[in-house]
Amino acid sequence: MSDYMETVDAVYSEAADAPQMALCCTLVPPWKLPGLSVPKGMLERNYGCGSTVNPRDLADAERVLYVGVGAGMEALQLSYFLRRQGAVIGLDRLQDMLDTAGSLLREASAENDWFDPSFVELRRGDARELPLSSESVDVAAQNCLFNIFERGDLRDALSEMHRVLRPAGKLVLSDPVSSVPIPQRLADDPRLRAQCLSGALQLDEYLQAIVDAGFGTVEVRARRPYRVLDARRHDLRQDILLESIEVAAIKDPIPDDGPCIFTGRSAIYIGDDECFDDGKGHVLMRDMPMGVCDKTASALGSLGRDDIVLTPPTWHYSGDGCC
Ligand SMILES: C[S@@+](CC[C@H](N)C(=O)[O-])C[C@H]1O[C@@H](n2cnc3c(N)ncnc32)[C@H](O)[C@@H]1O
Repeated sequence: MSDYMETVDAVYSEAADAPQMALCCTLVPPWKLPGLSVPKGMLERNYGCGSTVNPRDLADAERVLYVGVGAGMEALQLSYFLRRQGAVIGLDRLQDMLDTAGSLLREASAENDWFDPSFVELRRGDARELPLSSESVDVAAQNCLFNIFERGDLRDALSEMHRVLRPAGKLVLSDPVSSVPIPQRLADDPRLRAQCLSGALQLDEYLQAIVDAGFGTVEVRARRPYRVLDARRHDLRQDILLESIEVAAIKDPIPDDGPCIFTGRSAIYIGDDECFDDGKGHVLMRDMPMGVCDKTASALGSLGRDDIVLTPPTWHYSGDGCC
């Protein structure tokens, strides 16, 4: 085991036992749902950033794997939509954390009459070597774990997610990213890394790591301020902004001309015809915004037409268009 993982284990063993404010991104879950009560002890141990829970990912999902389950808040939120025995597998490396999650999920069943703890199967295991067979889950999620990993471990963890997903299955991630490269001195500090403060990649590197694992489509769904590594406390020349991002990736083949990365760009045709057809599968109806990946946006831009308007990334891709 590499040294930093010993520190990660120590940090999260402590965080399983007693809530650690410094690890919390927010005490309020990103959204509330009618009829969902999240036990206080779970909220206090919300050690993620952003959210990986989206009903639109779950419409056809039989089995969801959640890696780095922590105290179980997102496993509970996923269960809200799935409501079946064993529909969510909540995996964690630490038995202490699994014990905490188990007891908080039992508390949740007392607070929510629709919920049964059997909806979440808690399983011990490591993200870098998942104890699941290939192509056995429809959705695989993780929140705020992969940023902790050093490059080799991140590569292994993403490749394991790719392996266990069925074809066309979805990987859903939330992690901090950094506006500039994090100085090696901080990246090598195991405690800062474990606290999700110094392992962050820059956004383009993070997206490339997902593509390198074999995902052909990647969507950036949210991008928000997360933390500042401030110059004073960290002996830096200037502050470094960390942002939390939410990303989904689909296990489909990478097209010959490169992956489709959606960052919230749209193309709007404003010409005289009813539509514009680029001959590559994109038909833009007049005046109707269409979400396009960065590759398509740049191909349309290179046509030099003044009747196609291309909007910049919103970093909040959700299918796009006008509704
Ligand atoms: C930052 S916390 C996030 C917890 C949870 N996702 C949340 O949003 O509250 C990271 C979690 O991953 C677990 N973990 C750390 N290393 C792991 C590994 N290699 N494989 C699986 N889980 C791991 C920790 O025990 C901890 O529960």
